Amino acid sequence: MRRRDFFPALAAPAALPTDSVFQKDPERYWLQLRKEQFYLPETRAFMNNGSLGVAPRPVMKAVQDYMENAAALTIPEYEYPRWGYENLDAHRAEAAEYLGCRKEDLAFTHNATEALSTIAAGIDLKPGDEVLSTNQEHTSGRAGWLLKQARYGTTFREVPMPLPPPSPDALAEALLKEIGPKTKVLFFSGILSSSGIVMPIRKICDAARARGIVTVVDGAHVNGQIPIRIDEMGCDYYAGSPHKWMFAPAGCGILWGGRRCWSGCGRRL
Ligand SMILES: Cc1ncc(COP(=O)(O)O)c(C=O)c1O
Repeated sequence: MRRRDFFPALAAPAALPTDSVFQKDPERYWLQLRKEQFYLPETRAFMNNGSLGVAPRPVMKAVQDYMENAAALTIPEYEYPRWGYENLDAHRAEAAEYLGCRKEDLAFTHNATEALSTIAAGIDLKPGDEVLSTNQEHTSGRAGWLLKQARYGTTFREVPMPLPPPSPDALAEALLKEIGPKTKVLFFSGILSSSGIVMPIRKICDAARARGIVTVVDGAHVNGQIPIRIDEMGCDYYAGSPHKWMFAPAGCGILWGGRRCWSGCGRRL
């Protein structure tokens, strides 16, 4: 094989099957969609969107085009032609529209882990200050707080969640009743990864805010699974993972910090 054949250009993706195919034969519609829009071999049933989902062909084509333009220094809208320095304004605007937030409050990261660690590193806590959490958090969310605990003497306390919960309120109450005088941050997942339980995000965040506590939501399983408007969640920070349920290519995360944070909620503690 010649070296230049090693990375053949991806073919332009086929058009989506039409509605009339769906009306006549839904089974054929889905088979065609799967075959033409994804790279999955017929023998594979892929059911692990929780780690990484499958990126469809048009997405992979867009990634390839972007990388090629970057390598050729021809990303047209940037005066300074270096991949990695652009502000991705148009992409952030589109993502913000879907996520229900302002693009100015949104940053792209490489994954939710990076976003969560950045948030934990950025919130200014003193020794003895407490981060209260659930006992159902993913390692990616816990790691940043555990590092802070080891380095700066803050504490990270994990509250057992009632499982199965008798009601959404019971989940909120289990966490909120543990708030103490040292609690400065509440950190929890919007959807628990181990069970798929949807947490009462708004209720927890409103109660925390009323007590001056900063809320951080791990939304790795939220965007793409349930309707989302980050602006209406009531949290201060949100981390998301579009490469799970939103067909994004591997290496896509989001970090959202609300306006309250811009006015200094990190320094306030
Ligand atoms: C609840 C939760 N948070 C964070 C992550 C990390 O996501 P990412 O792969 O985007 O870093 C995962 C990954 O499975 C997860 O389940």
